[in-house]
Amino acid sequence: MRTPQVDRGTGLPERVRIYEVGVRDGLQNEKNLVPVEVKAEFVRRLEQAGIEVIETTSFVSPKWVPQLADAGDLLDRLGESGRSPHRPVLVPNMKGLERALERGVTSIAIFGSATETFAQKNLNSTLESQFDMFAPVVEKAKAEGLWVRCYVSMCFGDPWEGDVAPSQVVEVAKRLMDLGCDELSIGDTIGVATPGQVEEVIDGLVEAGIDLDRIAVHFHDTYGQALSNTLTALRKGVTIVDSSAGGLGGCPYAKSATGNLATEDLLWMLHGLGIETGIDLPAMVETSMWMSEQLGRPSASSVVRALGTAS
Ligand code: HMG
Ligand code: MG
Repeated sequence: MRTPQVDRGTGLPERVRIYEVGVRDGLQNEKNLVPVEVKAEFVRRLEQAGIEVIETTSFVSPKWVPQLADAGDLLDRLGESGRSPHRPVLVPNMKGLERALERGVTSIAIFGSATETFAQKNLNSTLESQFDMFAPVVEKAKAEGLWVRCYVSMCFGDPWEGDVAPSQVVEVAKRLMDLGCDELSIGDTIGVATPGQVEEVIDGLVEAGIDLDRIAVHFHDTYGQALSNTLTALRKGVTIVDSSAGGLGGCPYAKSATGNLATEDLLWMLHGLGIETGIDLPAMVETSMWMSEQLGRPSASSVVRALGTAS
């Protein structure tokens, strides 16, 4: 299978940690329920391709996200691997944390909103009261020795409110990190960001005292900007990038959210720049082609489509 010609860019990190969200962010948005055994096999194939961190599922209300109602069953099938600190699960509230702890989970992600409307639509909460929901979750999770990530959604634009001020993103992110989270992921939930915005938000986060090595970027590719935004973040010193195998994904509570940045598209760029990831690109392409067959439609990833048919 073809691989990119390597030409080391300047001002870039040696290594990037990919945080794979396809199993969670990808499959939460599927119209048809994906059988739990297919999800487990998806995780195993991602592991074999060398992906270290895989967000496996969400312990959210099954009425809100029926696609992930099988969260406990999936973790049971994954056995020890599902309890690794490298297999985080989304948890919105104490009920979700209790369910996750019952399954022996050792890392979680809470998910806040930078905007009022999305807090209501995604969490049935106000912007302000989301902190009351998350504070006891983070406190208990840390007391239990868990690793905790916090997401902030709608950091670069909101489908109901329009533009989002970087200062608002920084304020929400800082308050969530101050609860005791280990890592922050800034989400372009609807894929509208452009590189200047990315620079401004990252500068604001660093000025607010959040270490660069704790900041991850989470881009959706709706407007085709995800890779240029990622490159901008890397040049700013970010080394953790969220992506989704085959570009699966979206958010069921933000209709204009389409697929995430595809892991294979990201790998093509990173490997072309000589940046280490520890991931085998051909194995990822094969995994996403297999997943496409399961879902009955072609992959959204340009690299999967190019390598899946050409040599
Ligand atoms: P609510 O309806 O206000 O919850 O939803 P509630 O506390 O009033 O409880 C209502 C019922 O749900 C009760 O059951 C609870 O027990 C149950 P009943 O008494 O009616 O039988 N319940 C739960 N059951 C299982 N697990 C739970 C749970 N919580 C309550 N954890 C809630 C509030 C937060 C639960 C709801 O809004 C929810 O689940 N939201 C999640 C939505 C979601 O998963 N969205 C996608 C993830 S975010 C995303 O994709 C963005 C991201 O990728 C980054 C980016 O792109 O920006 C991360
Ligand atoms: Mg997302």
